[in-house]
Amino acid sequence: MAKKKEQKKDEKKQKAKASESGKVAVNEHGQLIERLNYALALEFAATIQYMNQQCVVKGHDRQDYAPFFAASSSEAHLHAQNLGNKIVALGGTPTIVPAPVRYTEKLGEMLQFDLEMEREALNAYINAWEAAEGNRPLRFWLENIIQEEQLHVDELAKLTADHA
Ligand SMILES: [Fe+2]
Repeated sequence: MAKKKEQKKDEKKQKAKASESGKVAVNEHGQLIERLNYALALEFAATIQYMNQQCVVKGHDRQDYAPFFAASSSEAHLHAQNLGNKIVALGGTPTIVPAPVRYTEKLGEMLQFDLEMEREALNAYINAWEAAEGNRPLRFWLENIIQEEQLHVDELAKLTADHA
């Protein structure tokens, strides 16, 4: 009896430690949850990064880019919300720790940072898709998001392209 209590205590401690470090407990979907959580951390980071850029962008570019950054932040927020709900539905624990966010006041660098983040997110979703073998509804769900992420990457690649 005492042993069981002790074991439960240990489990609780481990869980607390895991959430502190941003890692999450692994269940039978282990790798899949881990990969979805990495995508979630990136969506959190994208939400913050775009929102910050919406605040920071200045000069003539502000008129064009502030709405773009605001819309991108909202989209990342929505993706994060959907992902968190999906992780819980699969029996996992959604992370609360964002991936690293980068700051700059130069528009060109902002777009470059965003492109790199979107590419990372696209890869994270593709990796999650690979781990979702045998779960066709989840794969279809991920494919829709992958399509949207790919559009973002394409758009940012055009925005950061050299005009020369
Ligand atoms: Fe996204």
